[in-house]
Amino acid sequence: MRFDGWGRRLRTILAALATATLLGTSAAATAGAAPPAPRPLHPPRTVGFDQYSMIIGGQRTFIWSGEMHAYRLPSPTLWRDVLEKMKATGLNAVSFYFDWGYHSPAPGVYDFTGVRDMDRLLTIADQVGLYVIARPGPYINAETDGGGFPAWLTTQAGKARSDAPDYLAATDQWQSAIDAIIARHQVTNGTGSVILYQIENELAATGTSQRNYLQHLYDKAHADGIGVPIFHNDKGRNGIWVPANSGVEGTVPGPTDLYAFDGYPGGTCHTDGSVGAPSAAPDWGIQGAGGAKGGATASPNTPGFAAEFGGGWFDYWGSVGTYPCTAQRQGSGYERVFYGTNIANRLTVQNFYMTFGGTSWGWLPAPVVYTSYDYGAAIDEARQLRPKAAALKSLGYFVQSVAPLTKVDKGPDVLPSSTAVKVEHTVNPDTDTHFYFAVHNPSSATTDDSFTFPISTADGSYTLPLRLNGQDAKTLVADYDLEGQHLVYSTSEIETHLPGVALLHGRDGESGETVLRYASKPAVQVLSGSATSSYDPATGDLKLSYTHHGLIRVRINALTLLIADEGTANTFWRVDSEAGPVLVRGPELVRTAHAAGPLLALTGDTTAPADLEVWGPRQSLLVTWNGVLVPARPTTSRSLTAWRQLPGPAPVPLPDLSRATWRYAPESPESQPGFADVSWRTADLTTTNSTTKPPAGQVVLTADDYGFHHGDVWYRGHFAGSAPPSVSFDFGGGGAGLIQAWLDGKYLGQYVLPTNLASPPTRGTATFVVPPGMPDGDHVLSVMVRNDSHNEDGGVNDAHKEGRGLIGVTGLSTAVTWKIQGGDSSADRVRGPLNNGGLYGERTGWYLPGFDDRGWTTRPVPDTDAPAGTSWYRTTFDLRVPRGEDASLGLTIGGDSSSTQPRGHYRVLIFVNGWNMGQYIADVGPQHTFVLPTGVLDPHGPNTLALAVTSDGGPVNALERVQLANLATARGGVGT
Ligand code: GAL
Repeated sequence: MRFDGWGRRLRTILAALATATLLGTSAAATAGAAPPAPRPLHPPRTVGFDQYSMIIGGQRTFIWSGEMHAYRLPSPTLWRDVLEKMKATGLNAVSFYFDWGYHSPAPGVYDFTGVRDMDRLLTIADQVGLYVIARPGPYINAETDGGGFPAWLTTQAGKARSDAPDYLAATDQWQSAIDAIIARHQVTNGTGSVILYQIENELAATGTSQRNYLQHLYDKAHADGIGVPIFHNDKGRNGIWVPANSGVEGTVPGPTDLYAFDGYPGGTCHTDGSVGAPSAAPDWGIQGAGGAKGGATASPNTPGFAAEFGGGWFDYWGSVGTYPCTAQRQGSGYERVFYGTNIANRLTVQNFYMTFGGTSWGWLPAPVVYTSYDYGAAIDEARQLRPKAAALKSLGYFVQSVAPLTKVDKGPDVLPSSTAVKVEHTVNPDTDTHFYFAVHNPSSATTDDSFTFPISTADGSYTLPLRLNGQDAKTLVADYDLEGQHLVYSTSEIETHLPGVALLHGRDGESGETVLRYASKPAVQVLSGSATSSYDPATGDLKLSYTHHGLIRVRINALTLLIADEGTANTFWRVDSEAGPVLVRGPELVRTAHAAGPLLALTGDTTAPADLEVWGPRQSLLVTWNGVLVPARPTTSRSLTAWRQLPGPAPVPLPDLSRATWRYAPESPESQPGFADVSWRTADLTTTNSTTKPPAGQVVLTADDYGFHHGDVWYRGHFAGSAPPSVSFDFGGGGAGLIQAWLDGKYLGQYVLPTNLASPPTRGTATFVVPPGMPDGDHVLSVMVRNDSHNEDGGVNDAHKEGRGLIGVTGLSTAVTWKIQGGDSSADRVRGPLNNGGLYGERTGWYLPGFDDRGWTTRPVPDTDAPAGTSWYRTTFDLRVPRGEDASLGLTIGGDSSSTQPRGHYRVLIFVNGWNMGQYIADVGPQHTFVLPTGVLDPHGPNTLALAVTSDGGPVNALERVQLANLATARGGVGT
């Protein structure tokens, strides 16, 4: 080696060390934080496809995608956190719904700033290295208010999701706005990572009007510059809206380039929260029966594409809280069986709904859900990887590492030795690589079966022993080029491989064998763990036999073979650097790897002291972790391993809110007879486009007609004469909607829409008895209706136009003049249209951090009594989360769901620094803990909490204990 070469190398190392030290200093402040990078520029790439897979830039690509909704995480900084976690979890794509209503408070008004900055979102996705499946609706469903329709659309005459001109004019507005953003992030332009675009969602009506409507959306997308393939998401695998040239009998052709469908077949949780029995995985591709609903595909010229495949399920008002159960039911075993079945069926585009569910904050939740949209997903609402993320990661690394999987045909039938199992067989016609998907028969079975099955490849015939225990499935690979070594077969599964190293895995305690082929006897060295090897000179087969346990390391010629049990496999992370892929073992999470000369800079998280071992590009000699140089030594496994463990996080001190000073003020002044409502709008409309017309002779009262779309709406009805004995209100309130009424300031009571039914009503009738003895004269009836959002329109029947607020009133015999007041969706430009309703405290800024509450009295929390109506509690608290740590915090109200204490008849809107982070309903449940994302919370400063407590009045209906909760702490994160 020449001296000047060494000199250059030394200089690079010294320069790298200097950078590392510098990074080290600043990293102490914000570990893992990177300055916002400019939008990456790539060469433009084509997006093509055939029946096998997507072909991006000429390269077949298995799309392993996760769904997340930026609108369910009002913190752009944390978008990067979640997207990096998705990437680390083996996903190479993210699917985003875009919620029209989230951006549009009024016709013609669109907002893409702050938490609604979708350009920023798409830039981050590209920087993180995720392809994007863009799903802008116009209709999305998604358990969001109105299924993603803006609330102002409820007042349109034309039928939604049809070719009605006023509706199409509205969707044109939205598409013009959102397409402009999506279009400039297309892979095909070289300025982003969008590869697919969805028009409409589950449009199950297939009449001419819907066909015209879809065509209109398709043409508009093209006119707006969308050049990537366009698809629709079929509600189930029904062959609806397949590309026109599909030609499969029984399908419905549509203006689409690709056919995609969704499915949630995993089995459910019982209403008591216990895990239900698994169901069997459907063959929705080449292993299935023929025809529109099964068979090779309903669309023979396009890849198998699950636009949504269950990654969990949502939960509803009044449930016992099923997310923990769902995370198990749709857990690792489910993922292996169901996603594995999809792989065997050649579904090479799979998107898991949800991978991060997030929070339906403000008035986002559709009537069918409460605030938490955790979904039992792989990444929980507090942004932590659940155990089930491990199987998602294994499968994701596998489908991205083993390229022949992107082009397979159904192989000859394989007959296992036991009828308790089946083996689905696929073969790549170019490389002759074979894939054997072994699963129980039926796949819902959970027995413990050991069996053998025969394989026959170009390498010869073999009999493979295998075991399936519990809800499990395995995909084995045979006749495969494993980093230049020839893999004959392995009964361990391939997790990933990169130059010089391969990682295989199997269940702890199960035996495995791996056969590689060499022209002459290779040098084999078992570096750790136990494995035996034998070489057969006749075939050239080198056979390794072992039991999966911990980490077995075997060196064969130039290859380091790592064979891990599941728990150990989960400690590995594969990340890409400029110099090639990197495999890391040890930390809780590895986010990024950058290679510069001999320096390999890693970022990631630890939740406890952790090992660090790295298989990086050849030239990587120095490793930094979150900017700090990590002293490391080379190992016989050809890795670098840190001398010392990486540190875990320091404890996070949290203020005790029961010791805080709580400022208190009652409101609901609208309930009092003397309240001045002269400036309120008089309810004088006589026609409405809502599906709920007023009774004959009454004016329209439905709130949307008067521009009051979200949250609470107040009515004051003035009439003269004698007081009625009772009065009944037909009202629309959404999920767990509420009505409270007063006559001349006297509280009549409240009524809550029932929630414990299979299909809970969103509209109901409340009858209040008027106490006797009210004097004759002028009266005022004050009514507050809480609108827990508009219905979705899944049935294409304008269900979102069901009236909200009052619909009709019976029991009053004289003429009534109604005044109405609600929230202004355009008022809070920062927090957006869904943050506020029409409570007095909202209309006058009590929810905002800057509001001066010094004139208020103080009250203890928990409190001992509550007035009927709404009252506010405000406090401030300081957070001192250690720098360089990511603490995921929440707010807990009351006990846990299993508490046997009487449930108070009260509910709370939780405003954190002005952000409406959810609704607690004590007597409905199930949610007690509300996730508060960093960004909404300032982790290093003062924060303001304002609670709007709406109560039925009295001591048992008073505010319970309120506490901050630390849901997880990591050292690392994306910085704040
Ligand atoms: C799908 C729908 C999604 C969502 C999901 C259930 O059918 O396309 O928008 O509603 O069901 O979470």
